[in-house]
Amino acid sequence: MKKILLVFGTRPEAIKMSPLIQTLRQRPELAQPVVCVTGQHRQLLAPVLDVFHITPDHDLAVGKSGQTLGDITRGVMDRLPPVLEAERPDIVLVHGDTTSTFAAALCSFYARIPVGHVEAGLRTYDTTAPWPEEFNRHSVDVISRWCFAPTETCRQNLLREGKPDSAVFVTGNTVIDALKTTVRADYRHPELDWAAGSRLLLVTAHRRENLGEPLEQMFRALRRIVDDHPDVKAICPLHPNPRVRRPAEAILESCERIHVIPPLGVADFHNFLARAYLVLTDSGGIQEEAPALGIPVLVMRRATERPEGVAAGTLRLVGTEEEAIYRACRTLLADPAAYGRMAGATHPYGDGTASAKIADILLQHDRQ
Ligand code: UD1
Ligand code: UDP
Repeated sequence: MKKILLVFGTRPEAIKMSPLIQTLRQRPELAQPVVCVTGQHRQLLAPVLDVFHITPDHDLAVGKSGQTLGDITRGVMDRLPPVLEAERPDIVLVHGDTTSTFAAALCSFYARIPVGHVEAGLRTYDTTAPWPEEFNRHSVDVISRWCFAPTETCRQNLLREGKPDSAVFVTGNTVIDALKTTVRADYRHPELDWAAGSRLLLVTAHRRENLGEPLEQMFRALRRIVDDHPDVKAICPLHPNPRVRRPAEAILESCERIHVIPPLGVADFHNFLARAYLVLTDSGGIQEEAPALGIPVLVMRRATERPEGVAAGTLRLVGTEEEAIYRACRTLLADPAAYGRMAGATHPYGDGTASAKIADILLQHDRQ
């Protein structure tokens, strides 16, 4: 029997760890999963935990409005060690690349508890983009005993960096497991009823390195696109960060074919994604979900750690400048053949069995 402590703090981590928690719960004779949330996100996390019926065993409550990266790191470094001491887990699992991920892995490393990193090996090799996530995931991989790489490209990154083959496992991405449970053919929502009959652009943006001028450029590009295309409507479920919402509201809200709405619950968001014509985003996770649903994505970033989606043809990297985003979007809206090629590409993120593979690897280790 292995006691496995899963530590996470933000919405994307929760979405991608939840299927794994559910899988571990289905093997009570082999695994005792214990859930610790850091509190980095509160409003964004609660609906995810509800959907997947997860009640945390521990809440470090580190979050506060306007939190700095130092606040989150310091909070986790102060408050996680007593939990590790009390629970004495055999394994700590963390996910991805957030500040919660980094600080939790570091605490576990200091406590000499082996770390498993879910969604390992993603790289841009540019520590400024995404910032600070590229540093976080790289550091976590260095100290992880198990690196669960979603794709072969990620595995190759890890091997090139000197990670031993015996520590790297290609599993697919657990977000595909989550998608299998959330998307429904009979899904309805008033916002989708509003958009019916139009080509729907689904838009999110929130990255720290894009706060300020880049975000304003993105929103101005979107405004011009919608103004120029009467058959297009846009829905923007935006992050609660006031530094994201303020410019979005100022630039977009006066257009009646654009709805800026609060963040959607994950099941809602996945169903919106399934009905979208095109996605514009700087998100990481959405670059995996949209291809899995056959929805083209214009990635509003300078670099992506998901080159597989670009190679497959579903993602197009368009940068963060207004004119480039506007032109790429206009071209795609005008060219059904190019759109069809993007929508028809196959996705590389696995078959929805990533959680089972990860559980098998960890629990098989138990029998060694
Ligand atoms: C974090 C992650 C990022 C991830 C994003 C997902 C790091 C460094 N970044 O960035 O990788 O893409 O989460 O959403 O960890 N806020 C709320 N309520 C919430 C959450 C946030 O009000 O539930 C507001 C607060 O004002 C907070 C601000 O948003 O200060 C920023 O949140 P924070 O977690 O610090 O950074 P994110 O930009 O969300
Ligand atoms: N998401 C959500 N509601 C929204 C927007 C996004 O549930 O209104 C989900 C989305 O399905 C994806 C995840 O949030 O799984 C992506 O998280 P985010 O973009 O916040 O972070 P990133 O993936 O960039 O780290």
